[in-house]
Amino acid sequence: TRGPGHGQARRISTEVVVQGQSQAAGGEEADSEVSARIKTFTEVQAEGLEQAQKTVLISYPTGISKKSILQYLSHHGRINSYFFYKGHGHHAMVEFSEKESVGSLQDVAQIAGSSVPGIPFKSRLFTLTPRQSLGQALDETSIPDYQHPTIPMEDLVQKLCCADSISNQLYSLLNEHQLTEENMKLRFLACSLIQDLARAYFPECVVKPFGSSVSTFGKLGCDLDMFLDFDEIGKSPTPKKTGPFHVEYQIKRMPSERAATQKILSVIGECIANFSPGCTHIQKILDARCPLMRFFHQPTGFHCDLTANNRIALRSSELLYIYGNFDSRVRALVFGIRCWARTHGITSSTSGPWITNFSLTMMVLFFLQKRKPPILPTLAELKNLADAEDKHVIGGHDCTFVSNLNKINQTENTETLDVLLNEFFEYFGNFDFGSKSINVREGKEHSKPEPSPLYIQNPFEQTLNISANVNQNQLDRFVALARECAWILQQVNQDHGQGGKQPWGLAAILVPPVIGSKKKMAKSMLTSARLKALLDSLRADIANKKGERAFS
Ligand code: CTP
Ligand code: MG
Repeated sequence: TRGPGHGQARRISTEVVVQGQSQAAGGEEADSEVSARIKTFTEVQAEGLEQAQKTVLISYPTGISKKSILQYLSHHGRINSYFFYKGHGHHAMVEFSEKESVGSLQDVAQIAGSSVPGIPFKSRLFTLTPRQSLGQALDETSIPDYQHPTIPMEDLVQKLCCADSISNQLYSLLNEHQLTEENMKLRFLACSLIQDLARAYFPECVVKPFGSSVSTFGKLGCDLDMFLDFDEIGKSPTPKKTGPFHVEYQIKRMPSERAATQKILSVIGECIANFSPGCTHIQKILDARCPLMRFFHQPTGFHCDLTANNRIALRSSELLYIYGNFDSRVRALVFGIRCWARTHGITSSTSGPWITNFSLTMMVLFFLQKRKPPILPTLAELKNLADAEDKHVIGGHDCTFVSNLNKINQTENTETLDVLLNEFFEYFGNFDFGSKSINVREGKEHSKPEPSPLYIQNPFEQTLNISANVNQNQLDRFVALARECAWILQQVNQDHGQGGKQPWGLAAILVPPVIGSKKKMAKSMLTSARLKALLDSLRADIANKKGERAFS
């Protein structure tokens, strides 16, 4: 185990489970060794994408028995896993053991007849309709629909009040909000379905999830960031020294790499818009710093951002994955802070001058690097532990860090999350944002190189500020609320455990407390801070009418 409380609330999917063929990369490891460690990011990606390619998504009308669907599909091959869910209609996600089973099902599927005009495209989205009334009794009790757990805020607060420590409150919140294994499978499937389409143009390309879907910091309902990876195409064979000629593909020249990315995304975007069933609300955001295609994938219900040539973002997702798996306190604290920030409108689902989840996560990681002794290693330390195979230089930026978690020494810090939550608010309530920048590479603050209100250095593209979009009003709101919450945590904590179910600890800072004079005062402080913030934000919004880019 790593760190205190490790093992609580940890996602099963990051642990290597050796089953049949699904051995981890690296071949020589004994099964027992493999199952004792946490998978590397690359292993999670490879396994997720491989499973997704053996998976189909079935849509079916009400009244069909789930068992009969499974029975029918099992004629095409052994089913490895499945679940049923209600989204936009009834769906079954079915993963076969072999990829050939998908082909077998495709062989019997028909393109909808001429009564339904449409683009013929053999995807892995199918509709099952009974040839005749099945007339059999439905026995649905044994296969319930999978539902993404969603808990209303009031219920969550009630639940948190019953916990006996802030630490357990944070783990409880994590359990409610983290991505489930089913949700992860759907995310990989959505990528794989887009990959099918992109492969019509680029047969070697891979569409990979990145961002919070795979960084361990994803909350149910978060967007799905997709990366169109051409790395396999770009990998040239080692030039042969023999023979008189050097052989090269002729390629279409473009004025810049950015122009090439824009063109590819534009074409794939058109393809998604025109031919892909279930993709709606397509937006081309090609002028952003990181050009992207945004769309809604109806069968899985995900809001997707497709990017290309974005390898550094994939590396930063892997870095977060390393930090998120390093010590169980990390994810619990990040989820708690992210939930707090969302509740108070510090973060938002729309882009603008707000602090983003990504920036907020970096702030938590930085804070954990600054504890004494540190809870998290710096990026520089992770780089020192890297092997030759971990070496990554992308566009001249050094993105090297260790990928095997076992190589990192465990922390000696034993602080509880009760302490850490309070200290986080104290720390950033008093941070010198005016002159200092946050640097997770070194794990220390630097002088700000330019006057952005909040400066968090991009860990890899070191001249970039990942929070360049944040304006002074939004930063001031964050600081004011952090101070107030530090105060509330100190006051309200004294009251807990005295029989009542009044909001205390984490619950007290998620909703304004309602009883007691101290709490009333805290409520009015939070409310006035919110009202002021709302007005400031509206003003800032008007001033920033031009809009912020999604990846500024
Ligand atoms: N990213 C980055 N620099 C930024 C913004 C984003 O490198 N200024 C990268 C990060 O790797 C981030 C990913 O792009 O994880 C996706 O960005 P975004 O969707 O904004 O953040 P998430 O971490 O996915 O968080 P959320 O749950 O809010 O989507
Ligand atoms: Mg995201």
